[in-house]
Amino acid sequence: MKHYRIAVLGGSGFIGTHLLSRLTKEGHRLTVLTRHRERHRHLLVLPGTNVIQADIHNPQHLQRYLVDHDIVINLVGILNEQGDTGQGFHKAHVVLTEKIITACRQHGIKRLLQMSALHAAPDAPSHYLRSKGQAERFVLNQDDMHVTCFRPSVIFGPGDSFFIRFAQLLRMTIGPFPLACAKARFAPIYVGDVVSAFCQSIHLPQTYGQAYDLCGPKTYTLFELVTFTAQVIGKRRWIMPLGKLASALQANLLEYFPGKPFSRDNYRSMKIDSICDKHWPEIFNVERATIEAIVPEYLTHQRSRDRYMDIRQHSHREDL
Ligand SMILES: NC(=O)c1ccc[n+]([C@@H]2O[C@H](COP(=O)([O-])OP(=O)(O)OC[C@H]3O[C@@H](n4cnc5c(N)ncnc54)[C@H](OP(=O)(O)O)[C@@H]3O)[C@@H](O)[C@H]2O)c1
Repeated sequence: MKHYRIAVLGGSGFIGTHLLSRLTKEGHRLTVLTRHRERHRHLLVLPGTNVIQADIHNPQHLQRYLVDHDIVINLVGILNEQGDTGQGFHKAHVVLTEKIITACRQHGIKRLLQMSALHAAPDAPSHYLRSKGQAERFVLNQDDMHVTCFRPSVIFGPGDSFFIRFAQLLRMTIGPFPLACAKARFAPIYVGDVVSAFCQSIHLPQTYGQAYDLCGPKTYTLFELVTFTAQVIGKRRWIMPLGKLASALQANLLEYFPGKPFSRDNYRSMKIDSICDKHWPEIFNVERATIEAIVPEYLTHQRSRDRYMDIRQHSHREDL
């Protein structure tokens, strides 16, 4: 198998961490560009991995750090922006992607793997999906580049922000658990399967100029997914589906909570079911995992970690 020098943007996040680990196992040499090198020092233990602090929105930084690479992987993405104008999404998804293409051209890098999202399109209902769709269209229009786009539904696995977030919320809730958009449908895909598609595409010229929808093997409503989460963590909760108006109101309210657990833009994204119209792309040889096989494993470990934190707090031992 050929080994490449790969620059990864957004490599310090949930998917990035899983992807870096697989890429290093395959013998590639990696450069991870991050805004916070100290916070992500742990990535340095990965063999052949360099972690560089950079302002990737600054074209000079991009130009400097992409030198001598064969491939760029762009995983940068945000689910929420400050306010609700779309400008934050546009900057993180569209403008940054344009700068990446410019920097790639300056160094003769032709191969780009671009993370998009299922149902991303310039006319989608949310800023998130619209900006992802614009970025995707832009990169696929670059005829001199070898671009592959990936369009996953919600991704699960150790460190995810879906099941872990719902598990935390369910644990914190006393009484009914009000759930917005309970009928919205998802086809959750395992992070290991997404990573496999990325890694395989590196060696497959047939994937140049293509965009792939990636869904897990089963579809569920949000209500079913939250009920499943409650069962896994052993919490009996009355999950109360909210109607359209109450869901919109909840989004308006939670948008002002720290960390924006739910926003108006998230609400708009959920107007489209996050499920695939097409079959799994046959070009990727992947035996897709189900949530039932994977999620209990890491949510249970999460529980032990939370218990450990409780013991630490009760014993006033922050140094444990
Ligand atoms: N998770 C899912 O279910 C899912 C589903 C479909 C698509 N996606 C897409 O997959 C990609 C990765 O998702 P993830 O779940 O791994 O996200 P994540 O854990 O939040 O990581 C996002 C990464 O992007 C970088 N980043 C965030 N905001 C940035 C900004 N304003 N400027 C520059 N860098 C920024 C961060 O890097 P530093 O902080 O190190 O700079 C971080 O490593 C995203 O594009 C997301 O839209 C995710």
